[in-house]
Amino acid sequence: MELFVVDVSGGYRLPRPEALMTDFLLLKPAAPALLPRDERGFAGRSVELSELDTIGDGGLAMLAGAGGGGKTALAVRWGHRAAGRFPDGQLFVNLRGFDHVAQPMEPAEALRRFLTALGVPTRHIPAGLGGRVALYRAEMADRRALVVLDNAGVATQVRPLLPAASGCVTVVTTRNQLTGLIVREGAKLTAVPPLSTADAAQLLINRLGWDRVATDALAVAAVIDRCARMPLALSLITARAGGRSLAAVNAEIGPADAAGDPHTSVRAVFAWSFGRLTAPAARLFRLIGHHPGPDLTATAAAGLTGLTVGQATVVLAELARAALLTEAAPGRYACHDLLRAYAAERVSRSARP
Ligand SMILES: Nc1ncnc2c1ncn2[C@@H]1O[C@H](COP(=O)(O)OP(=O)(O)O)[C@@H](O)[C@H]1O
Ligand SMILES: [Mg+2]
Repeated sequence: MELFVVDVSGGYRLPRPEALMTDFLLLKPAAPALLPRDERGFAGRSVELSELDTIGDGGLAMLAGAGGGGKTALAVRWGHRAAGRFPDGQLFVNLRGFDHVAQPMEPAEALRRFLTALGVPTRHIPAGLGGRVALYRAEMADRRALVVLDNAGVATQVRPLLPAASGCVTVVTTRNQLTGLIVREGAKLTAVPPLSTADAAQLLINRLGWDRVATDALAVAAVIDRCARMPLALSLITARAGGRSLAAVNAEIGPADAAGDPHTSVRAVFAWSFGRLTAPAARLFRLIGHHPGPDLTATAAAGLTGLTVGQATVVLAELARAALLTEAAPGRYACHDLLRAYAAERVSRSARP
């Protein structure tokens, strides 16, 4: 007999009225699903995905690597792939440890979000960090859930968010190796290097189709090289290639950096992508460089630019098509922190944002 319905206001599953008549008055907490959407055209990472598979119940994994290298996409991909292991929910939070504009997220705020997602009514969420940690651990105690802590800057940002439950798995992503978590919490480190050349080619094939990639091996190699095999830069190129050949796109970006500095060549890709925007989209993108919120809605974009909400919606869609923004949830756009830092630089270079 099905006893439960979902209470959309609170998140707890409440018994149907007829169930109230029975002796089976059970309250079952909701299963939160905070994991972002899976990456379209995800390529490669079979080694890293298998390493994550070896994390046992109660385990802690750390994905470490450079910005734009694909850590978040990997954690999200694995979370969706392993969802069957976590029937009691998937929690996800961006701790903003590497954001040039926004402050890192305080553990107390991350816990407030988690507790809300776990169905705890606002009035029952303790004010202090200690109370929130205790309630979070109690809520997680009997669950088999996944916790993804994205962009952790320091170990102290992570520790209060560890569920301490034997059925849970935690995945932390970071640009720093958080040695304290390895030593004290036994985190298992998985390095996330740039994609292999074959996986970078697979990314291009997944997004552009086999025909366009197979017909020009030289241009493919040049594009992969200038992107330093970094998926963020490859994504900007595939988003903006349109119907043109990769050779034409490559020529348009300009000569590759003679010294072969990956930082310089990736920035040339950012500049190329930015340079192809319409004026209103370029202006909004520059303003996003200094917008402290993690997500942007059309209303917020209208407030930033003075455009109407309708116009802002069109401009946001252009930036998302260019992969300079990602639609994290319907109508909510996020900007990768490397792109945001680039946008902020464009503001300081431009007299008129
Ligand atoms: N394995 C992959 N296959 C396809 N696209 C990827 C892959 N990894 C990352 N991406 C793309 O590259 C972008 C940057 O990756 P992300 O995971 O955000 O990097 P990081 O978290 O290391 O800064 C993502 O928006 C995603 O579109
Ligand atoms: Mg990331």
